[in-house]
Amino acid sequence: MMFMRKYLLLNIILIWVTLLPISAARAQVHWQFDVPFVPTPYVVIEEMLRLAEVTPRDFVMDLGSGDGRVLITAARTFGARGIGVDLDGDLVAESIEAAKAAGVSDRVQFLQQDLFKTDLDRATVITMYLMPGVMARLQPRLLELKPGTRLVSHDFRLGDWKPDAVTQVRKNAFLWIVPAQIAGRWQLTMALPGGEHRMTLELRQKYQEIDGFGQFSDRPSQIWEPRLRGDRLSFVIVDDRDRDNEAALYFDGQVRGDVIEGELRRGTGRTQTRHAWRAQRVAATKP
Ligand SMILES: C[S@@+](CC[C@H](N)C(=O)[O-])C[C@H]1O[C@@H](n2cnc3c(N)ncnc32)[C@H](O)[C@@H]1O
Repeated sequence: MMFMRKYLLLNIILIWVTLLPISAARAQVHWQFDVPFVPTPYVVIEEMLRLAEVTPRDFVMDLGSGDGRVLITAARTFGARGIGVDLDGDLVAESIEAAKAAGVSDRVQFLQQDLFKTDLDRATVITMYLMPGVMARLQPRLLELKPGTRLVSHDFRLGDWKPDAVTQVRKNAFLWIVPAQIAGRWQLTMALPGGEHRMTLELRQKYQEIDGFGQFSDRPSQIWEPRLRGDRLSFVIVDDRDRDNEAALYFDGQVRGDVIEGELRRGTGRTQTRHAWRAQRVAATKP
């Protein structure tokens, strides 16, 4: 494991150092921007787009699009549409030509533009090969994007935001799914056997990692297996109203601002029953 880490670190340094001379003439120009131009190898691009589960329904934005290869692959291989932005006008011109040659200019657009001044709201997937300082600056904006937006990065992390998935095919590829903001106190209503039941729920959150507790009957109840993936929230509470007939309640719901709506399954197997539930946020706490 130690050897593997050292090897990977060495690999990253070697790749950056050896690839820089490729754009030696450009490097003097490119280094004036936040990140130099170092292209992502195609096999790594495919892995990043696979990890982000890109489909023709996606709108991909490549921040610092270089020679356009990420977006062109997203369009040609995965059928996606999108925009690439780069401050380097020569690279943007090169990308536009490459998109024409690949027959995808109707699906992709390249703009000479600062990624920090680019509106990211349209993106369903964002791809990045940027340096750690740039990633750290971008992180707060990325976290405010629509829940469910997938962010995928070649080699570099987004500060202390734990990735939802990591793969290594030659290089590290990291995936984050923008989580809904669910911190706060919620009032839940559910239609259980025996009538409507109400409970309060306190949720805490650090990025996609969540925990909390509820007040199911007249005692505090633990929340088990809490998970947040984009706008999908799931957790389990034990229905302990009747000690001789306890059952797990498997909640699954979609977060839309201050409302969560979904279905819960009570129990398992043949005795399982399904019920609607809804929650309204009654007090927010900062994430
Ligand atoms: C490491 S390259 C990645 C190129 C491409 N995304 C890839 O993975 O092959 C980073 C690119 O970001 C561009 N860049 C640097 N700072 C930028 C900024 N503030 N706004 C837009 N592009 C920037 C550079 O010109 C360079 O082409």
